[in-house]
Amino acid sequence: MPLECQLTVVAQPTDTATRAATRARVGTGASSGIDQASIRQVTAHSDMLAIVSEVVELKRAGTSHRGLCPFHAEKTPSFHVNAALKVYHCKGCGAGGDLISFVRETRGMGFVEAVQWLADRAGVELVRQDLDPHERARRDSERSQRARLIELATVAQQFFRSRFSSPDGRAAADYASKRGLGPAIAVRYGLGAVGGGWSDLCDHLRRLGWADRDIVAMGLGIERPSGGLYDRFRNRLMFPIFSAQGDLVAFGGRDLSGDSQTAKYLNSPEVVDLERETSSPFHHFYKKGDVVFGLYQAREAIRKSGTAILVEGNLDVMTLAQAGFENTVCAMGTALTDVQARTIRRFAPQVVVLYDGDRAGRAAAHKAVPMLLAEGCNGVLVALPDGEDPDSFVRTQGAEALRQRIAEALPMLNAHLDALVAAWDGSLQGKSAILQAAGPLLALIGNHDAMARNMAYDYLAARLEPDAPLDLNRADQRRYLHRPIAIAPAPAPGRAADVAEGPAAAESELLQLLVWYPAELGQPALRDAVDFVAHPGTRLALRDLLALHRDHGLDLDAVARWAIDYADAELRGRVLTWLAEPAPAPAAQAARQVAELVDRIVTVREIDRQMQRLVEQLRTAPLESQRALATRLFELRRLRSRH
Ligand code: UTP
Ligand code: MN
Repeated sequence: MPLECQLTVVAQPTDTATRAATRARVGTGASSGIDQASIRQVTAHSDMLAIVSEVVELKRAGTSHRGLCPFHAEKTPSFHVNAALKVYHCKGCGAGGDLISFVRETRGMGFVEAVQWLADRAGVELVRQDLDPHERARRDSERSQRARLIELATVAQQFFRSRFSSPDGRAAADYASKRGLGPAIAVRYGLGAVGGGWSDLCDHLRRLGWADRDIVAMGLGIERPSGGLYDRFRNRLMFPIFSAQGDLVAFGGRDLSGDSQTAKYLNSPEVVDLERETSSPFHHFYKKGDVVFGLYQAREAIRKSGTAILVEGNLDVMTLAQAGFENTVCAMGTALTDVQARTIRRFAPQVVVLYDGDRAGRAAAHKAVPMLLAEGCNGVLVALPDGEDPDSFVRTQGAEALRQRIAEALPMLNAHLDALVAAWDGSLQGKSAILQAAGPLLALIGNHDAMARNMAYDYLAARLEPDAPLDLNRADQRRYLHRPIAIAPAPAPGRAADVAEGPAAAESELLQLLVWYPAELGQPALRDAVDFVAHPGTRLALRDLLALHRDHGLDLDAVARWAIDYADAELRGRVLTWLAEPAPAPAAQAARQVAELVDRIVTVREIDRQMQRLVEQLRTAPLESQRALATRLFELRRLRSRH
């Protein structure tokens, strides 16, 4: 149980003097224990435009304000703020949320801390039960410690950089040029060096007044049993590791000795500070599985192309970037995590999976693909020749050959299913195992796109049993498609709707219109249509809104409050994002558009039902009637695509 749960906070407006006297700073935490009423009061007393304007220069644009997004680099403004509703959204990178999340994200604060910060400025006092002094001290130091460690890392980076061009870093610089990395790429990726001395960096940092405790916490120095520190990184080519926000949080180093006893790559240890419990956000200062290497450098290119290239190794990232594939990133040798997949998805919907052409690389690729699909990514899986990695391939065959490989690569879903089938031994158990392996993935795809799920299912069925297709209506076989998802449940906030096509897009559009024009919730046709909405989260939200509207009547403000408290994070993000943008349609058209969307959703579901029936008939139909059935199916498919 996180300690923050012990807090109860009540809000009281107060004058500045009392506030200053009674103010007790609170730290950060995931579960705040602050009641919703105080949060609302703090929000109500805050000036959204003033707070955002400290970070972003805003210009009025119709009902909202617009500026350059603080969460990604851009030249034309796609960051919108709705000052009345106190929500924001960026069309470029998908960042979005409310006032509190804005303060958290732009100022690197935790939830409680952000609420406290806003309360201070708004003249609202958060009175809370007392924490024990030790706990309070711990919370107070947490923020400053994070800032201090980033500063320490920056000082270390300057040291590594300066060594790279000194005699001490000769081996590293030679190695980089032997691997074909030129000066431009060395600067872009901040390549550095450290010589073979035992404590060059630690001595340097101590001379500058850095405390042993911080040097150790940052993973740069290790305590000697006899006292004093020695360097973790020795005789290595160094590269800085940035978080997606651009904070320098860790280092990687490639061994230069070639000694088989030495790890080829050494990374900073995950930074977990001394007596801190795991719920502390500080705990995540650096976590290997959270960071995507190269994203900081690649994000502009990724966003521009809509595609990220995912490789295994740091050197692959740099070689590819140099060869013109600037949108390349890697997971630093760990199996791709859901956090990394979600991070990539935030920047681009398409991923080129380009892993080493060996057994380990292929296995890792087939673990990464479901992770990516689960987060709503699409793209291709590239097969490299045996024994090649992207680095060697591009250096021996050239960029054009790689581009060719990518162009010819199979969609990752097909490739993944093919690999599952290729491993089939022909046995019934083997078939069942394949279905069990594919089931969760297919169900996940179904969350984004039901048609794609069905086609993937047919594809798999045709490969496994060309003569006796699997029967979607048989409960035991259908079960495989609806197994609980183990890989990565939550799609990235605010993005699920973008991935969906067909009815799901219409459903999302409908919800968006109703959020903006809650009066339309009174349309009678809507009540029945809700049951036809395929996406479970959207359906639930619509039901919720209908009930609220019926019982209390809803206006835009009430909808915003409803959204901020909504339990489903994906949906909450989606709705807040919409609210931060200009209205999806002029008010005069809202009623008509809602009616049209309702009609479309009902029609498409009806067509789906008929198609389903035809597919079943086709399986058992005598040859002479198959042609007619197939024609009808084709017509329905065309009809559907027009909706
Ligand atoms: P590889 O062994 O494929 O590295 O590991 P590479 O990038 O091809 O290395 P070179 O070309 O021999 O220099 C892929 C990634 O796994 C991580 C590193 O991030 C590496 O880039 N790794 C590998 C480690 O963290 N530790 C290791 O000991 C090895
Ligand atoms: Mn490799």
